[in-house]
This record gives sequence, C-alpha cells and structure tokens, in this order.
Amino acid sequence: MMKKNKIFIACDSTNILKIKKVIRDTQNTTLKVGYKFGLEFLNSRYGRNFLSKIKNKIIFADLKIHDIPNTCVSTIKAIKDLNINYLTIHIGSGLEALKACKKISGKTKLIGVTTLTSLNNKSLKEIGYNKNINRLVSHQVKLAKKANLDAIVCSANEVKIVKKFFKKEIITPGIRFNTKTDDQKRVVTPKQAFKNGSDWLVIGRPITKGNIKKNIQSLIDHLNQ
Ligand code: C5P
Repeated sequence: MMKKNKIFIACDSTNILKIKKVIRDTQNTTLKVGYKFGLEFLNSRYGRNFLSKIKNKIIFADLKIHDIPNTCVSTIKAIKDLNINYLTIHIGSGLEALKACKKISGKTKLIGVTTLTSLNNKSLKEIGYNKNINRLVSHQVKLAKKANLDAIVCSANEVKIVKKFFKKEIITPGIRFNTKTDDQKRVVTPKQAFKNGSDWLVIGRPITKGNIKKNIQSLIDHLNQ
C-alpha cells in the first residue's frame, strides 16, 4: 500500500460544535489526519476541556511557547494532563529554553517554530532582523538541532534548506490549493510541499471554510493529479 499523506487540520475556532464538525467531516481513509489546536481554541472557554477528552487522535498543541526557560518549562508541565503528541515552541526562545523543555517534554514531540509563514523579507526588516528568510531559517534550524528538538515548523519553501541540517520531521503550514492566500505570505501547494520533502502539512482555512467534505475531496484530487 502507498504511504498515506499526512495532514494536520488547523482547528482554529472557539466554537466547539464547529470543531466537532471539522473532526467528523475530515475523517477519511486516504489521508492520515491529525488535529492542530492553537492559541484561539486553547484560550477559549471550553477549548482545553474539550481537548482533554479527545481519544485516539493525533493531537498537535500549537502553543508557540516563546518565553524565558522557567516559564516555558512550567507551561509544558501545566499541560501534562493532556495527551499531546506534538507541541510547538519558538526557536527564538533561545537554546537554554529549548534544551530545558526538551529535557521534560517526555513523549510529546517538541517542534521548533522557525519564522512564521505570514512573514516575508520585508517583515523581517521591520522587526529588526538583518538576515533574509532563508538564512534566518537555516540559522534557527541549527539551533533546534543543537537542542535535539523532534521536529521543525517552516514554510514548504524552506524544506530543502532545513533538510540539510535537520533530519527529523518537517511540518509545513502556509499551504494553499486555491488562489486565496489570506494572511499567509510564503505559500506552497500541497503537492509541491510534499515534493519538497514535508512530512506533514498544516492546513486550516482552505479546508475548514466552506464545505469541509468537498474541500477534503479537492485536496485528495489535487494530490492525485
Ligand atoms: O488557515 P491556515 O491554513 O492559514 O492555517 C495555518 C495554521 O498554521 C494556523 O493555525 C497558524 O497559526 C499555523 N502556523 C502558521 N505558520 C507558522 C506556524 C503555525 O501558519 N509558522
């Protein structure tokens, strides 16, 4: 059997009914699907409790932790009761924070976030970085490797560069299979992202907005083209 393409569905909503529908309508046998819950859902009134009850799903908590080592570590300890398979931390939190978190993250895979896919070279200048995207991402990935992180989040444009320095899982958001890019700047199609070597794609709005079942089918058709 062919290996299944792996997709994390970004469950970005505060509405539990909507999230239940997203989970129901994305069940299928062609893809391997995991569910990503981020700042919006996990900070919503019922979000954390809902997550604590999900069974038999691959769960990605996109907390994008970005803080001093002690706070990063305490945050991971605070969510130990949740069965989280993947958890994000900004590589910009620094080597000491990354190492400290890796020490206590147990069987939760710790994902280093490089540079957000909503940023381009102009945005980096605005923030005050003097490296371009590719150089900055290579730099960040080397640090993630030093801290022995389990996975990397980057744009699918940078997978080839990342692979030079990092041999574990690569997860890529900023995926679009129609012309609507929303707030994303560094976008790639699902097919191209897998071709570049992504292990997992993160897809939100292109699947969760509109008819979810139809969107999943369009994704499968696109991948089979
Ligand atoms: O709706 P869309 O497909 O743009 O969703 C992408 C998801 O991936 C969002 O939940 C966003 O927070 C997340 N993400 C991202 N870029 C990163 C890291 C995470 O877009 N670098």
